[in-house]
Amino acid sequence: MNNHFPEDFWWGASSSAFQIEGAWNEDGKGMTVADYNSFQKSEAQADTKVASDFYHRYKEDISLMKELGMKTYRFSISWARIIPNGDGEANEKGVEFYNNIIDLLLEKGIIPFVTLYHFDLPFSLVETYNGWEDRRCVDAFERFARICYTAFGDRVKHWQVNNEQNLMVRVNERMNMYDVPAEDAERVRAQMDYHMFVAHALATTACHELVEGGKVGPAISSTMTYPASNKPMDIWAAKMNDNFKTNYALDMYCYGDYPGYYKEYLEKTGISPIRQPEDEDILKNAKPDLIAVNYYRTLVASYLPETEEHPFGTKLNDIDYDLYGYFKIEKNPHLQATEYGAQIDPMGLRLVLNDYYNRYRLPLIITENGLGTPDTLTEDGNIHDDYRIEYLKEHIAACNDVIADGVELFGYCPWAVMDILSSHQGFKKRYGFIYVNREDHDLKDLARIKKDSFYFYQKVIQHNGLSD
Ligand code: BG6
Repeated sequence: MNNHFPEDFWWGASSSAFQIEGAWNEDGKGMTVADYNSFQKSEAQADTKVASDFYHRYKEDISLMKELGMKTYRFSISWARIIPNGDGEANEKGVEFYNNIIDLLLEKGIIPFVTLYHFDLPFSLVETYNGWEDRRCVDAFERFARICYTAFGDRVKHWQVNNEQNLMVRVNERMNMYDVPAEDAERVRAQMDYHMFVAHALATTACHELVEGGKVGPAISSTMTYPASNKPMDIWAAKMNDNFKTNYALDMYCYGDYPGYYKEYLEKTGISPIRQPEDEDILKNAKPDLIAVNYYRTLVASYLPETEEHPFGTKLNDIDYDLYGYFKIEKNPHLQATEYGAQIDPMGLRLVLNDYYNRYRLPLIITENGLGTPDTLTEDGNIHDDYRIEYLKEHIAACNDVIADGVELFGYCPWAVMDILSSHQGFKKRYGFIYVNREDHDLKDLARIKKDSFYFYQKVIQHNGLSD
């Protein structure tokens, strides 16, 4: 196999604030939607209170990142650590924490690659504005983004505005949509989504204005859907599933408008968002410099004729169905699935990256890709995660192919640098190169233990690719 990785390829790893930091109410941090949601599930699994305790152990953790050889670290800033109520004065302690992280990373030769908002809207904004439904949340986000660019932009040159807006907006708990009446839910969701697009555009433009040499773009939840057969309508179903889950959002970020099929959906279902006259220019003028891609799996779709039971929009909340609700999503019999159901498909990664590059011609970086599974700490004090090594090998080989295909892929940041709080399975499901010695309801000693995959990835980085 020829090695196509360029010398300056960004080998890295990822995390997000609420899943790693802990210290959920320390040094002035306000509660977030992610905290609130995790507290609802505290009895069943770990919550955000301690998570991986990165807040107190970041020095040790960044030393391990250095040992791993990481060229970049993709992490997020907690909005409520910087502005506890989401829309007020900056909290010096919060700014100081991220200054310390950024400075230490740079000292160790690791490029900070920062996400402004990863599922953790300050809860105060829900209480005062009902979050993204209200236009004032857009203004609050722009102010937050400007504070971050001003505070950190002298050292942080690479940014993602938000993480997986296209997935987040469809998950009620992420949007704090607990009590919205079912008949109004899709209108509220469409308005929230639209406001996040405007906020994204404002933050993109602000980055170009405030960060000298700054590069910014969205981090999206990618979708690659195969048709269940070669029937034309199944092929159409697969395409539309990708369009409704991901491509409509990428079009919005890159071209500043919804594509025709999406406008039609909004109009037909009577949920077109309220727009302000100035938005057209805001959206059109914002130009991302890169696309950050999160990739976990592929899907299979077949056409399902429209019936009373499947009218427009009825399946919106089931993220494995498209918005129209008349495509059926199936499992792929040719692929193996993880214990938690995600189908493992390195070829899908090659396909999706080619697709995005051909559509938008922007540099791409993978900001999430990984195997979430239980790990066992053996008696010899190790974690023999050969299943994760296998997964990584196949996906790194796909990246190599993608570069040979001509795609401008400049980095690979698997999820996650260490075990983090998984949204649905707490610490039962692990992703990291570094084991965090805790269980959901037993903090143990929170020791950091290098898994076998740590040593594997260290070699990959040293060789700038797979060595065999
Ligand atoms: C991604 C999110 O969609 O999926 C991460 O950006 C998340 O925050 C990851 O952790 C894996 O999902 P889960 O449910 O296993 O945490």
